[in-house]
Amino acid sequence: MNKISIAPTNDYCPQTLFLYGTFDENGKADFGLFCWFSYVWDGELGVMACIGGNKLTKENIHRAKVFSANLVTEALLPFADYCGNTDGHHSEKMKAAPETEKGRVLDVPILTASPVSFELEVKEFVQLKDGEVMLCRIRNVLQDEMLTDKAVGSPEKLAAIAPIRTTCNRYFAWNGSDLGGWGEPGKQI
Ligand SMILES: Cc1cc2nc3c(=O)[nH]c(=O)nc-3n(C[C@H](O)[C@H](O)[C@H](O)COP(=O)(O)O)c2cc1C
Repeated sequence: MNKISIAPTNDYCPQTLFLYGTFDENGKADFGLFCWFSYVWDGELGVMACIGGNKLTKENIHRAKVFSANLVTEALLPFADYCGNTDGHHSEKMKAAPETEKGRVLDVPILTASPVSFELEVKEFVQLKDGEVMLCRIRNVLQDEMLTDKAVGSPEKLAAIAPIRTTCNRYFAWNGSDLGGWGEPGKQI
């Protein structure tokens, strides 16, 4: 393989997508789309998440110190893409939201149609020049009951829930097929 040096980019490094659920100061749910999400170890499994710039999700997390992270699947992609391209300060944004419920442990909105949802409590905010990294304790994991069925293998379960992968400003299905550029699937909302 002959490598060449290029400017910083994460192209060709697929990421998982999550919809972060928060409540605003009036108790209204908001969802934003995020991919800068990974895991840390500190005696137990935790989560690290980076939010850039100012957004409603960030303001809500600062106030409440809790949020949910809901795995984005093919079924959720149009709503997810819409959430990633619509400012939460836009009062109409959540008129398009699918069914939600409350977290079982934390006061966070959960997307009922997402097969995996984390209930997260921020332990530490790491302020950067523009962005901010949040180190979180996983207070609860909500999984579709089907995912806990030991008789079914993980390849079959992953094919059934079909998580989205994203890179190169595009969305890809679990089977690798192209599902459009950022800003496209949300147009149908
Ligand atoms: C595919 C995709 C991934 C995104 N990932 C992030 C991310 O990891 N961090 C971030 O700060 N913004 C990310 N965004 C932008 C936010 O989703 C966007 O600012 C949105 O308006 C946030 O929701 P809110 O305004 O309701 O807080 C992403 C957008 C898209 C389309």
